[in-house]
Amino acid sequence: MKATAVSPSNIAFIKYWGKKDTQLRLPANGSISMNLSGLTTTTTVEFNASLKTDECTIDDVKIEKEQKRVSEHLDRIRSLAHISTYAKVVSRNNFPSSTGLSSSASGFAALTVAAVNATGLSLPEKELSILARQGSGSACRSIPDGFVKWTDGNTNESSYAFSIAPSSYWNIVDIVAITNSGKKDIPTSEGMKLAETSPFYQTRLTGMDKKLESCALAIKNRDFTTFGTLIELEALNMHAVMMTSNPPLLYLSPHTLSIIREIQHIRGKGIEAYVTMNTGQDVHILCLPEHSNEISKIIQSLPCCTETIMNHPSCGAHCISNHLF
Ligand code: PMV
Repeated sequence: MKATAVSPSNIAFIKYWGKKDTQLRLPANGSISMNLSGLTTTTTVEFNASLKTDECTIDDVKIEKEQKRVSEHLDRIRSLAHISTYAKVVSRNNFPSSTGLSSSASGFAALTVAAVNATGLSLPEKELSILARQGSGSACRSIPDGFVKWTDGNTNESSYAFSIAPSSYWNIVDIVAITNSGKKDIPTSEGMKLAETSPFYQTRLTGMDKKLESCALAIKNRDFTTFGTLIELEALNMHAVMMTSNPPLLYLSPHTLSIIREIQHIRGKGIEAYVTMNTGQDVHILCLPEHSNEISKIIQSLPCCTETIMNHPSCGAHCISNHLF
């Protein structure tokens, strides 16, 4: 009754911002992402009849605020497996959590795969993605391989992620520039509740299907210029909705903006690189492998950048045999 899974985080190129069903975490629109090789969560789950409650640690710290959400997720899996046993959960991130680097995506994907396997169940990828989505929306995209699309769907069974190209299909690089490892002020799920208060939210949704189509096509054609231009605009479009919500959400810091400006400058010199940002100050810089070392060096030399993490497209969440306890 013990299993361990490792899951990548993922970066959304076309982003999920706003829900059509909060309970089921059905997104207002579809999204497209890539799994990240350098940002992973490893989680061991053991269902143990001697436990009186679920016991969970993340990076050696017993969780408190997040415990309810984790136990509710374990309940979904217990209910499928027809068991009521409590679980010991030990989870480790190889990157700072809750700074906007999507630790909830890798965290809930790893928890889903480890817990399902610890019950002895064997579920198809689609069912694992549906389960992971209910823990944290973006986690459903960390289950399949490589480049992934999450369909919005109107029911629990129709909203899940699937691979649109394997990780080996296109070797692009995502350099994460970390500007500050402090925790973000407003958690993503709180911020997302405000999406509809922006006067630009509905306009954003109107253009989504076309954007999803263009992004999938640019990936299919390995057309980096079309892809990069599209994803940078998309990230700023989402942040425009965030900034014009009521109350406004400013996830970008002066450090974030300095890095975005630097990338625009580098681009002006003929080196192709594009940015995307989530609900944190850190910047994801997308480039081709031949430029990654040079760009990383330039960004690391900026006083506002504390660290860079280099990512390639990665496989999805899977079980491993080395347990954490
Ligand atoms: O699934 P959550 O609650 O981690 O929300 C993810 C929201 C964004 O990172 C901003 C966008 C996305 O699609 O990943």
